[in-house]
Amino acid sequence: MTKYIPQMEPLITEGDVQAVNEYLTSGGWLTEFTETRLFEKSICEYTGARFCSMAPSGTLALFLALKACDIGRDDEVIVPDLTMAATATAVLLAGARVVFADIEPGTLCLDLGRAEQLISARTKAVLFVSLNGRAPMGLADFVARCRSRGVTVIEDAAQSLGSFCAGRHLGTIGDGGCFSFSSQKIVTTGQGGAVVTDDEEIYRKMRLLRDFGRLEGGADHYLRVGWNLKFTDLQAAIGLSQMRRLAEIVDRKKRIFALYREHLSGIKGIEIPATDLGSVTPWFVDVLVDKEAKRPLMEHLHVNGVGSREFYPALHSEPAFSIAGAFPVAEAVSSRGLWLPSSLRLDETEVKRVCGLIRQFVAG
Ligand SMILES: Cc1ncc(COP(=O)(O)O)c(C=O)c1O
Repeated sequence: MTKYIPQMEPLITEGDVQAVNEYLTSGGWLTEFTETRLFEKSICEYTGARFCSMAPSGTLALFLALKACDIGRDDEVIVPDLTMAATATAVLLAGARVVFADIEPGTLCLDLGRAEQLISARTKAVLFVSLNGRAPMGLADFVARCRSRGVTVIEDAAQSLGSFCAGRHLGTIGDGGCFSFSSQKIVTTGQGGAVVTDDEEIYRKMRLLRDFGRLEGGADHYLRVGWNLKFTDLQAAIGLSQMRRLAEIVDRKKRIFALYREHLSGIKGIEIPATDLGSVTPWFVDVLVDKEAKRPLMEHLHVNGVGSREFYPALHSEPAFSIAGAFPVAEAVSSRGLWLPSSLRLDETEVKRVCGLIRQFVAG
């Protein structure tokens, strides 16, 4: 029987298993300590950021970055309408108000012009999401313009490890950048997140806030209201093992995307967003299909042993947010977007099988 191809599954190697085994027999206390510091250092080295602070998840990395930038009650934060819900819920968790902005059709990221129009006296920050590792070339200029208006830019680079914009790693262009290491991400520690920044003041605040607001563990003197947003060395051991083969992971992600692009080319009604594999490491393989064909195509793939997943909904229309407004691009892209199998475990035969099924569906 042919194996079911899931839309996503993590790849854990012998090296990862060995790293965990070595850590477990090392006498470590499991919680964060030297392995976590080494993981942070390896993220800095890879991205070119000066500082890095781990967090328990990508969501909490966003929360930590927002709080370290003093964002809270009465502040507005501009968020793209098409993103994972956590981008917006982190803002709510920080006590601030979400203002959604539409995306632009090229990169499927925040429409920077629209975001600038939405900046008001209450706008404290913009959360820029590099969706699937893409970003507009004008991002650095946008950050500069926001800064000149007193607006902080935090990058949600949860999906963007291994992706660059104009030669800079995503996450290092704004005031702070957040990564996720959940099971589906390019590097995974099961759950986990990180904030990178070049700003020593933000970094210093993050170190306080993630450890109950105190300067050091065991010295219970609380300078600010803080929380327990620590990581674990057990996870860091896996993360470090994966960072060591990140170049290989990046190559594999790009190869998978290129294979899909080759085998889907010329199929009517299947559009692949423009992706420069010189700078982008696609986290998932994303395609746009006719709105009416999307669910029937997913069903066709499913009955033939292939998983797929719909894009995120346009968040403003979800019951959790329910915010009125016009977001035509986010709505259109959301209704057409589909993620195809994207695991590092995929081989060429499997990619060809998925593309063959799509061709068969389109041919009717
Ligand atoms: C764009 C984006 N932001 C935030 C998150 C939240 O990260 P986590 O699941 O690690 O909390 C994700 C997770 O998929 C994401 O894709």
